Amino acid sequence: MERTEAQKRVKELRERLEEYGYHYYVLDAPLVSDAEYDRVMKELISIEEEYPDLISDDSPSVRVGGKPLPFFEKVEHQTPMLSLGNAFSADDLRDFDRRVRQAVGDEISYTCELKIDGLAVSLLYENGRFVRGATRGDGTIGENITANLKTIPAIPLRLKEAIEVEVRGEAFMPKLSFERLNDEKLKAGEEKFANPRNAAAGSLRQLDPKIAAKRSLSIFVYGIGSLQGKELSSHFEGISYLREVGFKTNEESRHYQYIDEVIAFTEEWLEKRADLPYDIDGIVIKVDSLSQQKELGFTAKSPRWAIAYKFPAEEVVTTLLDIELSIGRTGVITPTAILKPVQVAGSIVKRASLHNEDLIREKDVKLGDSVVIKKAGDIIPEVVNVLPELRDGTQLDFSMPTQCPACESELVRLEGEVALRCINPQCPAQIREGLIHFVSRNAMNIDGLGEKVISQLFDHELIRDVADIYKLQRKELLELERMGEKSVDNLLEAIEATKSNSLERLLFGLGIRFVGAKAAKTLAIEFKTIEKLSQATKEELEAVNEIGEKMASSLVRYFKKPEVSALIEELRQLGVNLSYTGPVNVAQVTDNPFKDKTVVLTGKLHQLSRDEAKDAIEALGGKVTGSVSKKTDLVVAGEDAGSKLKKAEELNITVLDEIQLLEIIGQK
Ligand code: IVH
Repeated sequence: MERTEAQKRVKELRERLEEYGYHYYVLDAPLVSDAEYDRVMKELISIEEEYPDLISDDSPSVRVGGKPLPFFEKVEHQTPMLSLGNAFSADDLRDFDRRVRQAVGDEISYTCELKIDGLAVSLLYENGRFVRGATRGDGTIGENITANLKTIPAIPLRLKEAIEVEVRGEAFMPKLSFERLNDEKLKAGEEKFANPRNAAAGSLRQLDPKIAAKRSLSIFVYGIGSLQGKELSSHFEGISYLREVGFKTNEESRHYQYIDEVIAFTEEWLEKRADLPYDIDGIVIKVDSLSQQKELGFTAKSPRWAIAYKFPAEEVVTTLLDIELSIGRTGVITPTAILKPVQVAGSIVKRASLHNEDLIREKDVKLGDSVVIKKAGDIIPEVVNVLPELRDGTQLDFSMPTQCPACESELVRLEGEVALRCINPQCPAQIREGLIHFVSRNAMNIDGLGEKVISQLFDHELIRDVADIYKLQRKELLELERMGEKSVDNLLEAIEATKSNSLERLLFGLGIRFVGAKAAKTLAIEFKTIEKLSQATKEELEAVNEIGEKMASSLVRYFKKPEVSALIEELRQLGVNLSYTGPVNVAQVTDNPFKDKTVVLTGKLHQLSRDEAKDAIEALGGKVTGSVSKKTDLVVAGEDAGSKLKKAEELNITVLDEIQLLEIIGQK
């Protein structure tokens, strides 16, 4: 094809693809068959390959994904991306309505929108062209994920008008695409995504845009950050305008004057949400008039003119098939419910936490029982209660064993503790858990050495203590299942790299009782070398800020053991760094249940001190406050939690227990 002809053809094909895409993805009314769309796209790509200088960054061919990025750049949002206050009941919505009416009078109307459960993004258009897309990040600074967002067909690359606009919306993965993706992951022996939201977020966080391109993501645009050259008087008008210029907006939005109508809308969708092709986790209610929005203004965190009604956590009934006991690295025995697989809040649940023996007794749990389960914080499955009325006589009593299931030594209940413990220091289950802890993210952080590989190495008797990890040989690793040359090389390289970790990682990794990640760091900074630390007296340790009596005694006891001295000497000879090497880079906080959440700690914790729990939550981007209010997102309740727990329950706030806390912060 001649160049001039190619140029003409490229223009024509691009316009056709844009029009097809707009009808297919935005209007949901395809003009042509999928095969025809693919054919036109193929033709465009082949001409662009022949004439690379004709490629432009808003050509529909970018939908297939460009080159991988080395990292995501940070971007500062022109106007902050705030989050919303929450409502959990009709009463909360009435309170919201009262506040609004008090501030702006009775002439109001609300827009009610589905609260899409995905990932908030900002899309910036200059002269009608998509120039930058970013994640919400902390609301002020997000990550530039333009290349990934360009692969989402419902995001227009060029608008129908050459405007300057920054819009906000929710990128998401439709339920069907999610199921298909997980089927593929299962076949490939990879770990599945827990829910469509994680799958969407995971896809958009890949540095290689070709991955996002394959993930069938979509978007609904729900707001305007800034818009030049057009006056709008209401939110609804703004959304209609966005739709006109080419954005995909949600069609289920409704307009109401009275809060009772709004409440009816939330109730209607609670029933109908399961039938939607995508996940929603609530309804967003917005005062429609922009001048009233302005009058109402913002609190520090969120607008006063909008609120998110959150659906209650989904509860489902299934059968308890068995109770599995696992042994933690400190010997604590934790019972886990093995369930008949059931779909809860977007994923299949097969196991749920049963916490401890008291709870099993308290709830009168029997094997074969029908049990109600839900996901705490929509993430961690737990058994809420048992339905004794559904028993048919085949249920069996369950009692905790008296001996450790791994080493058969007698289990004990230490004074003041709820949990049963195996106190045999040679218990293989504890040793294995200790090794898993040693390589984990907050400890030595050895890439490619997760629970599965550690278990394999342990079962093949290649590792017995943490020093053995640094003695692993290429030859023996190659003999393991699913370990090719490449993965063995990578693993050995990763292990080698951690030899120069600063002391605090090793200290935390050793799993000394009561020494959490934060305390390990304090100790490393204070004593600089493991030698000095190991020689410190209890008094010297206690003199350090934040180190209490319990931790000081535990440290002295630990370093007195001859096997510990031998282990440290061995690590030294293997070339493992044993001193503090200065401030470490704070890792980027990834998505986790505590991120951007306001958390209250209450009751007595057993495996962590209050301060350690607080530090761990803060390290994950959460804010720990003292009292429970509507602003609280999560409550962590230890033993004997009192009024705060009660209040949390009244306010329908998600409550986590210590085990769930440990799971989230990666210490279990
Ligand atoms: S409006 C300042 N509308 O829910 C108001 N948010 O905290 C900004 N979301 O971060 C949010 N659907 O990720 C709004 N129709 C909708 C939404 C929606 C989902 C998400 C969004 C936001 C969170 C609310």
